[in-house]
Amino acid sequence: MDLNDIETLYLHRQSCREFSDKPVEEELIQKICQLALLSPSAVNAQPWQLIAVMGEKKEEFVKAVQPMGMNKFASKAEALIVVAQDKSGGMMKMGEIFKENPYVKNDLGLLTAHLILAAEAAGLGTCILGGRDEDKLRALLGFKKDVHIPHVVAVGYPAEGYEVRPKKRKPLKETFCLLK
Ligand SMILES: Cc1cc2nc3c(=O)[nH]c(=O)nc-3n(C[C@H](O)[C@H](O)[C@H](O)COP(=O)(O)O)c2cc1C
Repeated sequence: MDLNDIETLYLHRQSCREFSDKPVEEELIQKICQLALLSPSAVNAQPWQLIAVMGEKKEEFVKAVQPMGMNKFASKAEALIVVAQDKSGGMMKMGEIFKENPYVKNDLGLLTAHLILAAEAAGLGTCILGGRDEDKLRALLGFKKDVHIPHVVAVGYPAEGYEVRPKKRKPLKETFCLLK
């Protein structure tokens, strides 16, 4: 794999809002989660957990990612992967340096980035769903109030003919500079 392959992967990765009926094997969902969990984290605290929800169980979770009529397409996702803080509620194993892990949100975002790119490499489409009812998700999972759930990732094969959209990004000169 070289940089061109990575460029292709990044350009093809897009938020998928139309999923096909093609089933996704549980093993593949587990594999992309396992790969995502190789993501770096501050002091390697790994302050996270991924909960993949599929099959009948998924129906309860779909409603939690459709607040105010949002994310209707999520009903057709084969899996919903809940990206959550670890159950320790952000306490760092490091002990006294920080009472709470201030990097949790950062680390969960990195984890999700790894997840959606691994899924893309496996030919799967994903959409990060920040539109979610966090309390409902916590209740479904039996998590305490202090366990942060920043988003859920909808996963499935993209619908046939679902086209790769050109990327809409700010001009490079607004978002990158090189100092020397
Ligand atoms: C934290 C986060 C939350 C998001 N929440 C939603 C969402 O609830 N529904 C949705 O359709 N897209 C959601 N998106 C997808 C963004 O709209 C999308 O990434 C952005 O428009 C860029 O498009 P692209 O992913 O196709 O490159 C979310 C993205 C991120 C990073």
